[in-house]
Amino acid sequence: DTPLRDLAAAKGKVVGTAVTGSKLTGAYGDVAGTQFSSLTPGNAMKWGSVEPTRGSFDWTEADQIVAFAQAHHQQVRGHTLVWHNQNPSWLTNGGFTPAQLGSLLHDHIDTEVGRYKGKIAAWDVVNEPFNEDGTYRSTIWYDNLGSGYIANALTWAHAADPDAKLYINDYNVEGVDAKSTALYNLVRSLKAQGVPIDGVGLQAHLILGQVPSTLQQNIQRFADLGVDVAITELDIRMQTPADSTRLTQQKADFKSVVAACAAVTRCVDVTVWGFADSDSWVPGTFPGYGAATPYDDNYAPKPAYYGIAEAL
Ligand code: XIL
Repeated sequence: DTPLRDLAAAKGKVVGTAVTGSKLTGAYGDVAGTQFSSLTPGNAMKWGSVEPTRGSFDWTEADQIVAFAQAHHQQVRGHTLVWHNQNPSWLTNGGFTPAQLGSLLHDHIDTEVGRYKGKIAAWDVVNEPFNEDGTYRSTIWYDNLGSGYIANALTWAHAADPDAKLYINDYNVEGVDAKSTALYNLVRSLKAQGVPIDGVGLQAHLILGQVPSTLQQNIQRFADLGVDVAITELDIRMQTPADSTRLTQQKADFKSVVAACAAVTRCVDVTVWGFADSDSWVPGTFPGYGAATPYDDNYAPKPAYYGIAEAL
């Protein structure tokens, strides 16, 4: 079979996967290196990973992923700079004032984006800023800095690496609804203010048989605003155990997501959140669900893999 990355390249697109640095050898490294044209560190670039103690940095896994990507002629999608989860406890429990938090965030973005300047194609700068009803999520950032933290983070990231594409990324924004419309309105307003925003990431942690019917329409409306769209964390979970009916439905679901992206020129990237069922966050996060990726536990392609290939 033609590798997914070659199929995607022929359409001017990128196909990616989230990875864990320590696993990038053997069969896992083979699949990651040959099938995909982009890697996203699944955890390695989060604040809690890179600065577990204030002022003391651990770039080991992030560096390893960047080096692997360069050796395999792959892009890296940086993930993520500003989020409410997986922050170090010194930050969340530090009792900092809003002014201090603003300056800590600026330093964090400077340090991390600066370290990888020229090596990161796109950054998920802000992750998951919205509630389901389209209001801003109450987080350490919003509660202390107001919604302006988003424009500031983008501006600081752009200053640290002017060539990186800057994204806002969220989940449950794949179809047209209140949450995706809030994201749409935010992007429109940021662009009107001249804030550097290049794209939106639709995470796409989906459930079997529930690909939103308005996915392509939603991608198109963001494209029409003048930003790129990436499917950043695609997985499609099913109740376990998997059976052939479910795996066949999953193939159709993966195919329809990739086809929706393929149909819109500005949809530039489809990234899966772990390529193998044995490496997926799903079973640990959604009890009773699993088998959410295109490869099985032993790195053999599932029907879902062929669904992706057929749509590329
Ligand atoms: C997940 C990782 O895959 C897990 O290993 C970790 O325990 C929790 O975070 N949305 C995101 C990702 O933006 O960063 C999350 O990744 C999954 C949901």
